Amino acid sequence: MKTQVFTISDPRMSDDALAYAGQVIRQGGLVVLPTETVYGLGGDGTNPEAAAKIYAAKGRPSDNPLIIHIADPEDASLYAHTTQLYFALAKAFMPGPLTVIMPKRDNVPASVTGGLDSVAVRCPSHEVARALIRASGTCIAAPSANLSGKPSPTDAAHVIQDLDGKVDVIIDGGECDIGLESTIVKIMQDAQGEPYLTLLRPGAITHDALCCVCERVDIAPAVSEKLAENERPLSPGMKYRHYAPTAPLVLLDGEQDAVLDFLRTEQTLKKCCVLCYDEEISALSGGTLIPIGARDDLATQAKRLFAALRESDATDAEIIYAHLPPMQGLGLALYNRMIRAAAHTVLKI
Ligand code: TXA
Ligand code: MG
Repeated sequence: MKTQVFTISDPRMSDDALAYAGQVIRQGGLVVLPTETVYGLGGDGTNPEAAAKIYAAKGRPSDNPLIIHIADPEDASLYAHTTQLYFALAKAFMPGPLTVIMPKRDNVPASVTGGLDSVAVRCPSHEVARALIRASGTCIAAPSANLSGKPSPTDAAHVIQDLDGKVDVIIDGGECDIGLESTIVKIMQDAQGEPYLTLLRPGAITHDALCCVCERVDIAPAVSEKLAENERPLSPGMKYRHYAPTAPLVLLDGEQDAVLDFLRTEQTLKKCCVLCYDEEISALSGGTLIPIGARDDLATQAKRLFAALRESDATDAEIIYAHLPPMQGLGLALYNRMIRAAAHTVLKI
């Protein structure tokens, strides 16, 4: 298949390209679209054949459900059984990097939801994504546009690396603003019938922010802990190894100076690649360094993490080191991605 690449930064400037890409979706084809979180591999969310093509292009197990993307928060009711809590979340955070899981309606095929009776719905804030959804006249099912197991793409170059020749169209919208996938919550009900949320995947909408809208927000254990062998997670995606570079990634937990001393020694012994803080560059001039942002700047670290993991994979390092992120605020999202990329290997210094 020949993949066409369109560069669109302003959706009003490119009505023709969007109309064409919308038609590709409507006809069951695949279009990679930019979003504010990461790039998505999109197909018609109501068409089982499009879903099958998505799984095949990604090399993804078909029991791992897809998120459907809508242009306006109210459209969720077309595909899911929405509740008051959904609309409270929508008012606070949509359009934006939040995905909500609710009971699905019949028009969402089982192949999109991996056979589950719930569906994940998200209204992205990226204007190109919203314009494409409108142009397609349907909802767009889209997992992250990486090959299964690779870091999510935050730039069109990553998408081309993974999916050139496997999709009809790639829309290049430049670098993604946030760089980590959306926060995922599931709407639950307690024994008294009161609604509450379970956080399945942390992202830029933080636990604290969610707590401002809903009194009870549980955090699924798989967010920060290793699943036991054969344990069934609340979200199928949690059981898969993810984002992992070929060389082992080790996360370092310790005092700033002790960690720097450790790294300097390691650099004399091994081919190391270090995902370091910007202010550490001069102290660690020895081996391969990939700066991911200032120590206190979690937003920049989030934005650069996946590109840094891809970059580290392209070096000849035998081992990759990074700092263990804090588990608060946006740090929890970084922690969740990095701990999985490191297969839970943390070295206490
Ligand atoms: O930011 C994002 O969410 C990006 C962009 C493209 O929107 N999409 C994304 O999709 O990260 P994906 O497929 O890579 O991750 C979706 C996760 C998977 O771990 C999947 O298991 C989970 O959401 N999921 C989807 N539907 C679910 C459901 N009904 N119940 C539980 N988990 C679900
Ligand atoms: Mg993904």
